[in-house]
Amino acid sequence: MTVCEAPGKVYLFGEHAVVYGEPAVPAAIERRARVTAEPREDDHVRVTAEDLSLDGFTVEYAGGTGDRPDIDAPAPLVEAAMGYVDAAVRQARSAADAPDAGFDITVESEIPLGAGLGSSAAVVVAGIDAATRALGEPLDREELADRAYRAEFEVQEGQASRADTFCSTMGGAVRVEGDDCEAIDAPNLPFVIGFDGGAGDTGALVAGVRELREEYRFAADTVRAIGDIVRDGEELLAEAVPEADPSRELLEELGDLMDFNHGLLAALGVSARSLDAMVWAARDAGAHGAKLTGAGGGGCIVALDSDAETPTALSYTQGCEEAFRAELATEGVRVVEP
Ligand code: PMV
Repeated sequence: MTVCEAPGKVYLFGEHAVVYGEPAVPAAIERRARVTAEPREDDHVRVTAEDLSLDGFTVEYAGGTGDRPDIDAPAPLVEAAMGYVDAAVRQARSAADAPDAGFDITVESEIPLGAGLGSSAAVVVAGIDAATRALGEPLDREELADRAYRAEFEVQEGQASRADTFCSTMGGAVRVEGDDCEAIDAPNLPFVIGFDGGAGDTGALVAGVRELREEYRFAADTVRAIGDIVRDGEELLAEAVPEADPSRELLEELGDLMDFNHGLLAALGVSARSLDAMVWAARDAGAHGAKLTGAGGGGCIVALDSDAETPTALSYTQGCEEAFRAELATEGVRVVEP
């Protein structure tokens, strides 16, 4: 039995603009998805999901996930969860040259599903890592990140960027620009997450920004302006001491850029009342800055604050279902003892 766990992520800067070739800087957070893989004698795949923001369920299938199992959990979530595990298994089989390998897979996740924290990427990364290791064919990190990207790309029908899967594989902060991905140094940023309990429709939100950008010059300018914010943010991070506690001045400067980034995302129409309410609650509580993270429309915001005020204020904010602190996950996917 092999157990691997991979972190979720927040976007410090740059979501949506990254789709048009601007850089983005996601950062891994200490909330993980854990996948256990045990090879089977036959070619079946049995998936048990213990906690994917949905009630636990177990399904077993052979030859694909075309038929939705008759279980008591919301259909889109089951399909999403099964789709990602199935894609991870296909990648693992191909990487290990074992087309008929069967597995018992268990997924446990602390990352809210579809809320901008990279839950699916974490499941895919940990899944491919666990399944290939279970077959005695561990992958190096570059290949793991690439195969995880391909798995997400397939499930999301071409809508995936490399950001989530690369960040979840490598840990820490990363820089993504088109197909170029690299790990970058970052201080130990004090992230606070607010979650509204919902999820945005990434495909529809990306399509909305695309239409806006085609119709209005301001939207194309806004995308470029987000790119400028990312470049400014990268310069700040490059000057900081890696993995040390950041200075107050740095937090304030990064926070300002996060605030600007949120405003520009709102101008592109991807914020939501609940996200704006959480962003303002965090700022009022003294956070250095706050923005939505991920596709938007609902889901999560990320704020920077080392004090207790922001999580407390968020937990009293209408529309905020959960508020928690999340450290930068300096380690990406890792093997854990079962
Ligand atoms: O919601 P998430 O974490 O999947 O992020 C989506 C980020 C976008 O830039 C909107 C799309 C993408 O694939 O980069």
